[in-house]
Amino acid sequence: MARLLTALGVLLTLHMASSNKLVCHMTNWAQYRPSVAKFTADNIDPFLCTHVIYALATINSFNQLSPIEWNDEQQYQRLSSLKSVNPVLKTLLSVGGTVNGVSPFIAMVAKPESRAVFIKSAISFLRTHNFDGLNLAWEYPGHNGSPQEDKERFTLLVTELSVAFEEDARENRKTPLLLSANVASFRPTIDRAYEVNKISPYLDFMNVMTYDFHGHWEPATGHNSPLYPSSADSGSHSHHNINSSVSHWLSLGAPAEKLLLGFPTYGRTYHLSSAATGLGAPANGPAEAGPYTRTAGFWAFYEICDFTSSATVEWISEQEVPYATYGSSWVGYDDKRSYSSKVQWMTAHNLGGAHVWTLDMDDFGGSFCSAGPYPLVNHLRMSMGFPPKPTTTPGPTTTRDPMVDFCRGRPDGLYENLADKTTYFQCFQGNTYLHRCQPGLIYWDSCKCCNWP
Ligand SMILES: *[C@@H]1O[C@H](CO)[C@@H](O)[C@H](O)[C@H]1NC(C)=O
Repeated sequence: MARLLTALGVLLTLHMASSNKLVCHMTNWAQYRPSVAKFTADNIDPFLCTHVIYALATINSFNQLSPIEWNDEQQYQRLSSLKSVNPVLKTLLSVGGTVNGVSPFIAMVAKPESRAVFIKSAISFLRTHNFDGLNLAWEYPGHNGSPQEDKERFTLLVTELSVAFEEDARENRKTPLLLSANVASFRPTIDRAYEVNKISPYLDFMNVMTYDFHGHWEPATGHNSPLYPSSADSGSHSHHNINSSVSHWLSLGAPAEKLLLGFPTYGRTYHLSSAATGLGAPANGPAEAGPYTRTAGFWAFYEICDFTSSATVEWISEQEVPYATYGSSWVGYDDKRSYSSKVQWMTAHNLGGAHVWTLDMDDFGGSFCSAGPYPLVNHLRMSMGFPPKPTTTPGPTTTRDPMVDFCRGRPDGLYENLADKTTYFQCFQGNTYLHRCQPGLIYWDSCKCCNWP
């Protein structure tokens, strides 16, 4: 009976967790940023997110899922090793981007045979590299291919992937691979790209890319990711906000619990072309590139922290987001306060959770914003009501804590805690994590698991 109750407890916990996802993207190009901005899978806090999505993989000319960077396979392995620290962490591989300016999905989805090759290669690749799922990042079906056909072919791809994932799970007695997609937030793009009713049942979750609503391609300042319209918006611009975009997804029949709201850890910049500095001020292009992201048009949150120390910061109350301006530079970005507003909106609409673009643009090392590591994502996690992370954070201590020292010099793995058998240590990269077994169970080193005394 007690065993059954424990099993039920596990199921309930899993069920609750599934309605509260915090999905975080990392990018394999962030490793090329200089000095403290260099980011690899080793910079991920294993307890921060429920899912980590590794961006990006591509589709080769034989229609197979394939890596992009020289060290992707090394990084997959580092990412997967985080799961020995946090056994409930899920990892997915994102596939998309462009090859010579064109999405590699367009050719692959065109024929049943090439879809079958892709699907087979994806399952084998994901299993080989210990991923828990696949994230489709086609921006967007119907964009520069053939609109109506690509929309239908995307549906076929999603359906066939889902069926194949089920088959693979049955045949190999494994948990089915997860299937998710990054999806558009502009109403006309949504209408052109997706058969919402047909794809929703087959996707575990959809990452609505609720950012890039405004940017330096426009002649006046506007916010990257506003919650609501501004009274200055006219015409289609009144739909360039989260409320309008996600409402559209819901009205098309997307189940709320499968929609994840996008939280950007970056802001979009403008170069002001007059003395005006407010929302809607004339602009002609982006501000200077950030010293670390080195791409004109956006700044990472850690670059914005440096900027706001001397800039004027304003809150756009209609849109519940901040902007900052100094000299002729203007940036619309997100901070803890706007994240809180968005979490409230997300909760009020019963969405399945949040996704973050990206981990590597938050102040992941804590060296810029004086707010500890991952200030934005940690705030998001807390605002969403996740329990405190089950970690023993190692750090400088004056009186040495024997527990913090436990893993120094030990190989990664699980160890018994002789002082308290209801807990056990997990060593990861020299850091010590203390875990507690479920009530009634104790840790057994023989199975490296919690079991009955
Ligand atoms: C949010 O979206 C809903 C549904 O489209 C709409 O009725 C409501 O007026 C919007 N709220 C704001 C403040 O724009």
